[in-house]
Amino acid sequence: MEPKKITISQLQQKKEKGQKITMMTAYDYSSANFVDQAGIDVILVGDSLGMVMLGYNSTVPVTMDEMVHHCKAVCRIAKSSFVICDMPFLSYQVSIEKAIENAGRLVKEAGCESVKLEGGSEMAPVVKAIVDAGIPVCAHIGLTPQTATKLSGFKVQGKDAESARQLIKSAKDLEEAGAFMIVMECIPEVLSARITNELHIPTIGIGAGKECDGQVLVYHDLVGLFERFTPKFVKQYVNLAPQIKGALIKYKEEVEAGTFPGPEHSFAMKAEEVSKLYPG
Ligand code: KIV
Repeated sequence: MEPKKITISQLQQKKEKGQKITMMTAYDYSSANFVDQAGIDVILVGDSLGMVMLGYNSTVPVTMDEMVHHCKAVCRIAKSSFVICDMPFLSYQVSIEKAIENAGRLVKEAGCESVKLEGGSEMAPVVKAIVDAGIPVCAHIGLTPQTATKLSGFKVQGKDAESARQLIKSAKDLEEAGAFMIVMECIPEVLSARITNELHIPTIGIGAGKECDGQVLVYHDLVGLFERFTPKFVKQYVNLAPQIKGALIKYKEEVEAGTFPGPEHSFAMKAEEVSKLYPG
């Protein structure tokens, strides 16, 4: 029997029962298969794929077509994890109509259950419009990488009274607009704890401490596949890069030395079969 998909009401119940929600990014069939098999509640097809899969310097250049392409691969294998796909930069800011159209593409064409978009109170009308169109929305506040330049870089947000107050207001406005969950990136633990307590919907932290209702990390950071930089909030559970590089070097050496492929990797034929194939 096919495992059942996690639902929004199950995520909500987890918050209410004080059970932690797990979220992990995945961008392709193989990684999504591992994440789904591990029983992670939510897969986020994050626009971080622009950096870890496509080699861009930031998430800004990521396009709708790229998100659809990767999200489709994830949705082909995600049997029980609930799939959220990021809306890329400028796919939801230009107009409400465009935002609904693009969110619709991710759900209809790529097959995910929900979309995520970055921004605070100013994004509440967009969240409301997408939700009213029937598409669940996860919000994302704090450090919002798509607009990191406006925030003067990748810095912890909400450290002074005014920005902390604004983040609390944003979280409440986004909940009011209909967001079913909210990601909080790089904010002090004391602030994420307060927002988590004041909201009815679940909060998911990344660099926001342990008081959130759940946690998310980037898959490539967790397994050691992204070497360019490692943010402070990342815990690397395994470092696969040296093992993969070692295997590739060994393969190169064995091919060059003629020791791979061996007889166990080759297809032999009996002498009489060979003579039928090449008579005379
Ligand atoms: O794109 C992404 O992976 C994200 C997470 C860092 C939350 O938005």
